Amino acid sequence: MVCGLICVLAGLVLFLVIAKLYIKLTTGWCRSNVCLVGKTVIVTGGNTGIGFETAADIAKRGAKVILACRNEQRAKDAVQRIIKQTDNPNVSYRILDLGSLKSVRKFADEINKNEERLDILINNAGLQTVPEIKGLTEDGLQPTMQANYFGHFLLTHLLLDLLKKSGPSRIVNVSSMAARHTKLDKADDLNSEKGVVMDIYGRSKLANILFTIELNEKLKNTKVTTYSLHPGIILTEFSRHAPAILKGIAETLLLYMFKNAIEGAQTTIYCAVEKDIEQYSGQHFHDCHIVKPYKKARDSDLVKSVWKKTEELVKLEKKLK
Ligand SMILES: NC(=O)c1ccc[n+]([C@@H]2O[C@H](COP(=O)([O-])OP(=O)(O)OC[C@H]3O[C@@H](n4cnc5c(N)ncnc54)[C@H](OP(=O)(O)O)[C@@H]3O)[C@@H](O)[C@H]2O)c1
Repeated sequence: MVCGLICVLAGLVLFLVIAKLYIKLTTGWCRSNVCLVGKTVIVTGGNTGIGFETAADIAKRGAKVILACRNEQRAKDAVQRIIKQTDNPNVSYRILDLGSLKSVRKFADEINKNEERLDILINNAGLQTVPEIKGLTEDGLQPTMQANYFGHFLLTHLLLDLLKKSGPSRIVNVSSMAARHTKLDKADDLNSEKGVVMDIYGRSKLANILFTIELNEKLKNTKVTTYSLHPGIILTEFSRHAPAILKGIAETLLLYMFKNAIEGAQTTIYCAVEKDIEQYSGQHFHDCHIVKPYKKARDSDLVKSVWKKTEELVKLEKKLK
């Protein structure tokens, strides 16, 4: 009995060690030493997790970094930590709640009024679920979809003139492998409340990829390029709303089996700064290299209809041709 237990434990430890080793050996690293002095970069959700590590790396490269965050105190703390870590005093925050179209418009207005340029927009913020909202948001949108996708769709449109003016510039959309098997057969399902948490999350992350593909088409004659990516599976605050027992299991596994936030930020940083990747605009990345588009992302009718439906849902006034 005791021997059996020891064998099981030893097996488990060996499994975790091999898994950790595998992650360390396969994680893609952004090796670029590009300097970003004189550039302006916005990172949504830059106060924690992957967004924080992305913002810190970009600040180390000398850019002016603006964290776009919904919680003022968490934003202030993150700004202080990044300045301390990087010695770059040019790091600040502005309030952005992607769950409110009004907040997105206000944030974009402030940026357009106060910033002379925008070189890189990193649409990173995201969550699995919004437990505090039952039903739809004040904008009539599904809350997870709004924070992860609709909000970023509108934000990007409102900042496009500034990005165009600053070209060559980039838009990086943080998606997830959860998009791979998600159910989204038609644009009318985009704002649907149907499905469990992971169905809706997957739908929002697929929408990030479809957005990137069509955005690239619309930006063909400009100097703005765009990329989507899966960052890996990473120990961040991401599972904060999961039931305690699931959270405990997930966090224990994540700690041993998956990436830390610095490793998780590498593909975002790569898409934001790596030289000469403009020819790959519109593509999806993982571990700092291009991956084959997921099945739904190859459905060009779906790509176009989702774009059109989103324009309606976010009540876009100035549509891209
Ligand atoms: N962690 C993973 O394993 C994993 C895997 C695949 C993809 N991703 C993607 O990676 C991105 C970053 O996730 P993470 O793991 O770093 O998670 P995280 O640690 O939970 O950070 C998420 C960030 O998004 C912000 N955010 C959430 N809702 C927002 C809203 N309505 N308005 C503005 N900001 C909002 C959060 O702000 P608060 O701090 O105020 O809540 C936080 O700064 C997400 O897009 C996620 O889908 C993560």
